[in-house]
Amino acid sequence: MKIGLLGLGTVGSGVYEIINHQKGHYFATSKEEAIITKVMVRDINKIRNINIPDKLLVTNFEEIVNDDEIQVVICVMGGIELEYSCMIQAMNNGKHVITANKAVVSEYMDILYKTAKQNNVSFLYEASVGGGIPIITSLIQTLRINQIDEIKGILNGTTNFILSKMTDEGWNFADTLKKAQDMGFAEADPTADIDGSDVSRKLSILSSMAFGSHIKDENIYKRGIKEISEADIDMFNDLGYVLKYLAHSKLEGNKYYATVEPVLLTNKNIMSNVNEEFNIVSLNGNIIGELQFYGKGAGKNATANAVVGDLLYIINNDFKKQEITLEQQLENGGNIAFEGK
Ligand code: NAP
Ligand code: HSE
Repeated sequence: MKIGLLGLGTVGSGVYEIINHQKGHYFATSKEEAIITKVMVRDINKIRNINIPDKLLVTNFEEIVNDDEIQVVICVMGGIELEYSCMIQAMNNGKHVITANKAVVSEYMDILYKTAKQNNVSFLYEASVGGGIPIITSLIQTLRINQIDEIKGILNGTTNFILSKMTDEGWNFADTLKKAQDMGFAEADPTADIDGSDVSRKLSILSSMAFGSHIKDENIYKRGIKEISEADIDMFNDLGYVLKYLAHSKLEGNKYYATVEPVLLTNKNIMSNVNEEFNIVSLNGNIIGELQFYGKGAGKNATANAVVGDLLYIINNDFKKQEITLEQQLENGGNIAFEGK
C-alpha cells in the first residue's frame, strides 16, 4: 500500500520512522506492506534529524493527492485551509485520509465525513485528540451501546506540562513553555495551546461525536492559562489545591454546555495527579457509567503511534468498524441547542 505523507515535523517524522524502521508486530500482522512514496515539506533544503532519501521530498501537495499509485494520504501539517483542501482532494481522488490535525477535523468534520462516504474511503483522526490515547476508537466503541452525556479531561500536553512543572518543581511559565516546544509537545504557534483553542478543538471533536451535533470550537467557552503566575501556583499549593486545565462538556436534555478553563482540584481528584504531557479523558455512558482513559497526550512517538494505528485499520480493511459517522449520530441525536456558561 503506497502512502503519501503531508508533513515531516514532530509527528510526520515519527510516522516515517515507525513505518520504515519498527518492523515488529505491525508488519507481522499486516496484510500488505506500507510504503511511503512521497513526503510533502515546506522547505526541501531544511536540515532534518531523520534519515530520508531526498527523492521522496516534494513541496507541492498536488504531486501527492493526484498520484494514482498513492492509496492513503496522511496529513500531519499544522495549518487549516491548505490541509483541508488536501484532504478533500485526496478523498475525491479515491484516497483514504488519516490526520492528526484537530483544527481541520473540528472545523470541517461534517464535510469531511460526507466526502469520505461519497467516495467510499475512510477518514480517520485518532491522533487528533489525546495523542497516544485511543480515545476516538474508545468513544466509538462506547457509543455502540451507550449514550454519552458527559466528557471531562485534560486534553493538552503542553499546558499540563507547564502547570505540573510550575507546581512540582517551581519552574516559571516562559521557560517551561520553551521546554515543551523543544520536546515537540507544543503547536508550531503555541498560542493555540495556551489560549485554549487546542483544547476546545479537541473537546469539539469528542462532543460532536458523542452528542450528535457539530459543536464547533467557537461555541465552546474558553479561558486561557497565560495569566497564571508562579505566585498564583504557590498560593494554590499553600491552600491544598492543584491547578489543572480542564475541558468539560455535558448534555442536558436537548442542550449542552462546554467549557475549557483552569480549575482548582483537591489532591483526592484523580485528575490532579495527571502530570507532565499526560492527558486523561473521562466519558460518562448511560449503561457503563464513567470510563477513564489515560496516557501520553502529545509528542512524537505517542502521536505517531495513533496515526499508524489508523493506517493499520485501513491496511487490514478494518476501517468499516470505525463507521459511526457524525451523519448517523445527527440522525439519532437531532440538533442540540447551544447553552453558554
Ligand atoms: P511540525 O513539527 O510543525 O511539522 C509540520 C510539518 O508540516 C513540517 O514538516 C513542515 O515542513 C510541514 N508543513 C507545514 N506547513 C506546510 C506547507 N504550507 N507546505 C508544505 N509543508 C508544510 O508540526 P507537528 O507537531 O508535527 O504537528 C503536525 C500536526 O499534528 C498538527 O496539526 C498538530 O496539531 C498535530 N498534532 C501534533 C502533536 C504533537 O505532539 N506535536 C500531537 C497531536 C497532533 P518543514 O519541515 O519543511 O517545515
Ligand atoms: N500541542 C498539543 C498538546 C499536541 O500539547 O497537547 C497534541 O495534540
